[in-house]
Amino acid sequence: MDNFHFDYVIIGAGLSGLYSAYLASKYGTVALITKTIFEISNSYLAQGGIAAALGKDDSPELHFEDTIKAGAGLCNKEAVNILVVEGRERVKELIELGMQFDKDNNEISFGLEGGHSRKRVLHASGDATGREVVNFVLKFIYDNNRIKIFENTLIYKLIIKNNECSGAYAYNHVDNKGFLVTGNVTILATGGASAIYSLSTNPHTSIGEGLYLAYDAGAIIESMEFIQFHPTTFYTGTDETFLISEALRGEGAILVNSNGERFLLEKNLTELDTRDIVSEAIFEELKKTGESKVYLKLDHLDKNKIKNRFSYIYQEALKYGIDITKDLVPVTPAAHYMVGGIKTGVNAETNIFRLYAVGEVASTGVHGANRLASNSLLECLVFSKRAIDHSLNVIKKNADRFFQQTHPEFRIDNNMKEYFIEVRNKIAKLLWNNVGILRNKNDLMIILNEIDNISNNFLHDDSEYYSSRIISLINVARMITLSALLREESRGCHKRIDYPSTDDRFKQIILLQKNKEPEF
Ligand code: SIN
Repeated sequence: MDNFHFDYVIIGAGLSGLYSAYLASKYGTVALITKTIFEISNSYLAQGGIAAALGKDDSPELHFEDTIKAGAGLCNKEAVNILVVEGRERVKELIELGMQFDKDNNEISFGLEGGHSRKRVLHASGDATGREVVNFVLKFIYDNNRIKIFENTLIYKLIIKNNECSGAYAYNHVDNKGFLVTGNVTILATGGASAIYSLSTNPHTSIGEGLYLAYDAGAIIESMEFIQFHPTTFYTGTDETFLISEALRGEGAILVNSNGERFLLEKNLTELDTRDIVSEAIFEELKKTGESKVYLKLDHLDKNKIKNRFSYIYQEALKYGIDITKDLVPVTPAAHYMVGGIKTGVNAETNIFRLYAVGEVASTGVHGANRLASNSLLECLVFSKRAIDHSLNVIKKNADRFFQQTHPEFRIDNNMKEYFIEVRNKIAKLLWNNVGILRNKNDLMIILNEIDNISNNFLHDDSEYYSSRIISLINVARMITLSALLREESRGCHKRIDYPSTDDRFKQIILLQKNKEPEF
């Protein structure tokens, strides 16, 4: 098996992978690995923007308070403080490097989103913030001779010995070639898992494969019950959907049912309550009416402003015959963000030496039980920088990079592809129908049993491409379902019909680790 060695092995190429690679390249050589291509990531699709307390009426203290409130009692306050204070610095640095955020009269224009007490969401090219930020950081990656890019490369196992990571086993699924990428520091930046649900805003690749790699290697995983559902994704009548940014509601768009009634008002809610509250209210409304969508109404807003500020959404909706400036926009909630993930300290370090986790795959504690809108790109910047700063001591000492060379050659058996798709579809439906916005013990126990049945009936072969991906799917689905079952209360974006109240006896984090009982 070929072996490439780098100072840094960075797995994943959303904003945290790219930004970590850019920073790491100042100190050493970098392998930047993505299982597809740079244009496929949640960061790239991000619309609303980056929250940072840079407005004249704003402060890190206010941003801190809003983040803590959204997190419903489970945020790590130290991490939140780091996020809101250092976040401002990271965003200012990006601007100094040349990143163009949208302006009004030469001043940065801040959008408003649910749960924010101030307008503080910076955006770029209207509703294409993710694409703009990713493309901006990419300029520092391409032509950087210290960074080697590996596209279409799946990492199927981390190299671990004595709780120390020294890189990963990689497989280029276009060239059908396996190789070792060793490194003194390995950073997982593989994003979330919400595409494991049948209805999701995420690219189809976001099924938690990086999370499973870490779990399999012995990393501690936490808070997997907290899957955030975005209230407004475009309803197409199929599993295809796209995000309708919360920033539209920030501009004054309202939610109505098919009779034109503002059903949120009947519940004493508003369009800008946190997304767990709005998603649940929509879900209840759909149950009550038996319909499958509600509507966003924008025809009272300035048409040109909407067309300019939300040009991506405007164009996408037109493809389905909807002019968002005139027509009611059909929307429904969908799985959006994995709040939990690989447990890290405030320097993005995991419990495995030389292994860091950044971005959505990590659980730094900043989101608690529910992420505040547009805090995620900010988290990518802040904790990627902290990971690289912290790693400077670690890269000085070479990892023992040649152990475990005896791992079996990886291969693709195309006969397994159909089975992978079958299992994926089955799990997606099970989770959507039973581990979704509202959960209950009975359903969760049935689903856990079903997942175990899928697992027991499957001959595990972790040296085959599709089999290893099936093993990952099963484990991620199990972690979400088990954690949802264990948390016998409703908190943040975890809602239990059988335990509708928040119960402070459960004000703890659920920790999962391979071959160990869950800790709670
Ligand atoms: C949105 O634009 O509504 C999504 C922003 C986010 O998920 O933070």
